[in-house]
Amino acid sequence: MTRNGDALLSTRGLSLAFGGVVAADGIDFDLRQGERLAVVGQNGAGKTTFINICTGYLKPSSGTVRFDGTDITGQSPRAITRRGIGRSFQLPQVFTEHTVRECVMLAASAVGHKRGFWPSLAEAIDRAEVDHTLDLLQLRDRADDLAGALPEGQRKLLDVAMALVLRPKLLIMDEPTSGVSSDEKHELMAVLMRALDEREVTSIFVEHDIDIVRRYATRLAAWIAGKIAVDGPPEAVLRDPAVIRNVVGE
Ligand SMILES: Nc1ncnc2c1ncn2[C@@H]1O[C@H](COP(=O)(O)OP(=O)(O)O)[C@@H](O)[C@H]1O
Ligand SMILES: [Mg+2]
Repeated sequence: MTRNGDALLSTRGLSLAFGGVVAADGIDFDLRQGERLAVVGQNGAGKTTFINICTGYLKPSSGTVRFDGTDITGQSPRAITRRGIGRSFQLPQVFTEHTVRECVMLAASAVGHKRGFWPSLAEAIDRAEVDHTLDLLQLRDRADDLAGALPEGQRKLLDVAMALVLRPKLLIMDEPTSGVSSDEKHELMAVLMRALDEREVTSIFVEHDIDIVRRYATRLAAWIAGKIAVDGPPEAVLRDPAVIRNVVGE
């Protein structure tokens, strides 16, 4: 490996187009362990496409993704989850007809075994780990409620709990505060970030609220038209004219 041998996640030349739209335009990116990277960019800039490629939901037309020393380009979402990249979604992917605890148990059981083999939950799952994860996301007192009955903020936390129970090294969160009122956002992020700190999980999160970016990110990358246009310390990136023009607004 070259100078980026110490990166946890690395992409080189990642490209993907949908018809005429270039959603990923040769993305070179390195993330080191311990970073908390915020991602900003207008709708359609390619943020989710980048996440989908890194987590196996989309295959790039060219380029590579390396994680923790291994080329994972084109591997399935499940294989990538097993390697240690967790993910949460802009629209939380929880099992609305199950309880909060069951959702975390199902997530814990779904990755650890071979395709087509569904062991009894009791043998597959570490109950203490499930409860500890619920505590970490402050969901323990909702454990027996249906996931579908949770308010949006707690649904977001549950989506993260379902990723964290698998003990990822890296967690990628697509708009963890979208759909949550602005007075609830800060509390939600405080809970999320405390959980990630406690588990020593490196993170990437897409976020539109600049106050939240300033408060929680150690690094900021601004996406413009399928590329990382500006990347660096949050305050420096937020002062960049292209970022002000395209992303933040005056
Ligand atoms: N599955 C898809 N099929 C066709 N076009 C897509 C698909 N996913 C994304 N796009 C297009 O790619 C561009 C980038 O989208 P996306 O990555 O979702 O942006 P962002 O997350 O920054 O809002 C947009 O123009 C979007 O319409
Ligand atoms: Mg998106």
